[in-house]
Amino acid sequence: MKVDPDKVSWGSPKAKRCKGCHRHETPGLYYEWRQGAHGKAGVNCYDCHRAEKGDPDAIRHKKSFDIAIIVTPKDCGRCHEHEANQFRNSHHARAVAILDGLENHLGKVVVGEAAVNSGCVVCHGSTVKMKDGKLDPATWPNTGIARVNLDGSIGSCSACHTRHRFSKAQARQPVTCGRCHSGDHQPQLESYNSSKHGMLFAANREKMNLESDRWIAGKDYYDAPTCTTCHMGEVDIASGRLEVTHDVGERLSWNLRGEVSEKYALVVYENGARENWPEDGEEDVPEEGDEVERNGKTLTVEQVLDVEARREKMTLVCMSCHSEKWAQAFYTQLDRLVELYNDKFAKPGLAIMNELKESGRLTRQDFDERLEWIWYELWRKAGRSARSGWAMTASAEYTWWQGMYEVGKRFYSRFLPEVKKVAGNELYQELLDKHVKDAEGQEWFFEARKILASLNKAPPKKNDAQKQQQGTGQQ
Ligand code: HEC
Ligand code: HEC
Ligand code: HEC
Ligand code: HEC
Ligand code: HEC
Ligand code: HEC
Ligand code: HEC
Ligand code: HEC
Repeated sequence: MKVDPDKVSWGSPKAKRCKGCHRHETPGLYYEWRQGAHGKAGVNCYDCHRAEKGDPDAIRHKKSFDIAIIVTPKDCGRCHEHEANQFRNSHHARAVAILDGLENHLGKVVVGEAAVNSGCVVCHGSTVKMKDGKLDPATWPNTGIARVNLDGSIGSCSACHTRHRFSKAQARQPVTCGRCHSGDHQPQLESYNSSKHGMLFAANREKMNLESDRWIAGKDYYDAPTCTTCHMGEVDIASGRLEVTHDVGERLSWNLRGEVSEKYALVVYENGARENWPEDGEEDVPEEGDEVERNGKTLTVEQVLDVEARREKMTLVCMSCHSEKWAQAFYTQLDRLVELYNDKFAKPGLAIMNELKESGRLTRQDFDERLEWIWYELWRKAGRSARSGWAMTASAEYTWWQGMYEVGKRFYSRFLPEVKKVAGNELYQELLDKHVKDAEGQEWFFEARKILASLNKAPPKKNDAQKQQQGTGQQ
């Protein structure tokens, strides 16, 4: 959304000195700013970096200015309120909250704190601290997606719009998202790159009109969708419209990252906060006007987007270039893949893990046993690859070889044999009967075991074996 010059002013005269000096001291930064939209519009250094004496992030600079080094979403929101509000209420702005729990234990304790600081928080965001009047170098530089800033705001707009160009064109490209959404554990970029969409983007990059102010799928560009197109981009077709959104999760219906995938409704509260609400969870999805308790506060539900409504949004994106039936068929295939993963592998696996912990065969401590690593990589690496591979969109490599093939291989050749070792034969049989046997598609495994068991019980007589050998020899 364009900035309304009647509502905010810029062009602080104080910046004359900033510019004069920084042009020589840090020319790269200066020229980037000048070439970018802010430089061109006259939004200058002090408009963004200004601070009041006493602000938690204020430092005294060159003995004459109170400045903040970090320009936070709150600062950007002075002019870009719309984008800042959407971002603040999105799942992106909550990514730091996950830095406790299972994976935090993996990072912090199992591996070590220094690795968290240069690993996890680069993507998820650090908690910025001041030390002796300076930004604590253990916590900054950092532009993680949910950085906790000194002014209490969350996130970093330069996670995607890098300083000092803050360019839309750059943010629209898949590599921007791929800085965090790539690699074995969240291979969205790789899935995209190996899909037809990614192939078409690479082949037609210069036709994508990336610099355009208006960027409507199917109108301002047609050759391929990027991550931005599907998760944030503007759509305007006969069947409906979508505005640009800085809530990247709005158009999703599945959680594809957990051990077991769940479908989510989106609950929007009166104060703007948003929450993913499991459709088949313990609590029913609330309705508009209902009141919900959260952290000691009562929130009123303003709007509910159920799974269908969220899908309709994503489907509108597809319909800029495809037919509605094409998009629906894609979702049918996505659902079938996710349900196969869930029902045949993830739910049985999770139930077995839980039971082994409850029965004391595994310690309560995470990651001190081989089986826990095997299970973690099964869902976190292979399971995510499979689900992301299809969703982003139809990458055969990530859906099958990096995905379901690995899920199957790990389940039968590593997970179950290790469960047997941990549980002992008797409990193992019990667990199989209880959690695996009735899962759809597992018959083949039990059939094979039945045959093997009967062979083991009654080994073929020598004569029979000789006959068999002769038989194969003749073929
Ligand atoms: C996840 C990456 C990402 C983050 C984080 C992000 N943006 Fe954006 N932003 C984009 C993309 C991509 C576009 C271009 C969208 C389009 O035109 O399709 C954009 C566009 C914009 C625009 C141009 C809007 C217009 O209509 O011309 C503004 C202003 C903006 N962002 C401000 C912000 C602010 C402020 C923040 C922090 C609160 C922020 N962005 C955080 C990716 C991001
Ligand atoms: C007399 C030259 C000069 C002026 C005037 C000046 N700066 Fe700087 N600034 C520097 C230099 C040199 C650095 C590199 C770090 C250092 O040694 O202070 C710097 C660092 C910074 C930093 C990073 C802070 C840090 O500690 O690394 C910011 C942000 C900044 N300047 C913004 C501004 C703004 C905004 C203004 C105007 C209000 C301004 N500067 C005016 C020379 C100047
Ligand atoms: C649109 C807002 C905006 C404008 C205008 C702006 N900055 Fe920045 N600046 C930022 C943001 C955002 C960061 C990144 C802070 C972070 O998250 O660590 C930054 C970081 C910096 C840094 C520290 C980073 C580094 O690489 O050393 C310096 C120095 C700096 N700005 C100087 C300037 C100067 C000088 C100008 C004017 C020529 C200027 N800025 C204009 C937003 C702005
Ligand atoms: C003092 C007001 C002001 C502040 C503060 C400000 N901007 Fe802007 N921003 C503008 C204006 C003016 C424009 C250009 C014209 C327009 O889009 O309305 C602009 C344009 C943009 C664009 C579009 C760039 C493009 O390629 O067209 C992005 C993205 C953006 N700002 C992000 C940010 C971010 C991120 C911050 C904080 C680090 C920030 N802005 C801080 C006023 C501001
Ligand atoms: C390369 C960037 C990157 C690094 C490094 C990284 N993560 Fe993540 N993490 C992500 C992304 C991106 C997602 C979302 C993936 C998805 O939706 O498939 C994510 C998802 C998660 C989730 C799931 C959150 C949810 O809502 O279900 C947790 C928990 C998590 N990360 C913790 C960690 C911890 C702890 C570390 C370090 C030990 C870490 N991550 C390292 C990028 C990263
Ligand atoms: C600086 C790192 C970073 C960048 C850059 C980034 N993301 Fe993310 N993203 C994350 C992390 C971390 C999560 C997981 C948050 C969580 O689960 O708590 C996430 C989650 C998501 C989700 C799931 C949201 C939900 O509500 O479940 C989507 C979709 C997404 N990102 C899309 C994008 C797109 C599109 C871009 C580029 C325009 C992008 N991201 C850029 C780190 C990043
Ligand atoms: C053609 C459209 C399209 C493109 C392009 C696309 N995605 Fe997606 N993405 C989807 C769909 C569809 C889903 C699943 C929707 C649902 O849950 O209903 C999804 C889901 C996601 C998720 C959620 C995963 C989770 O953990 O639940 C993330 C993160 C994500 N995409 C990031 C990206 C990134 C990063 C890119 C670019 C490298 C990208 N997407 C490109 C359509 C797309
Ligand atoms: C900007 C236009 C555009 C958008 C938006 C778009 N696509 Fe595509 N898509 C294409 C083009 C072009 C192709 C290649 C067609 C061909 O095979 O000749 C393609 C190919 C595909 C394929 C690969 C089929 C195959 O041959 O393997 C799938 C699946 C797909 N799209 C699904 C989707 C879904 C689902 C959405 C919405 C979430 C979507 N697309 C959004 C342009 C788009």
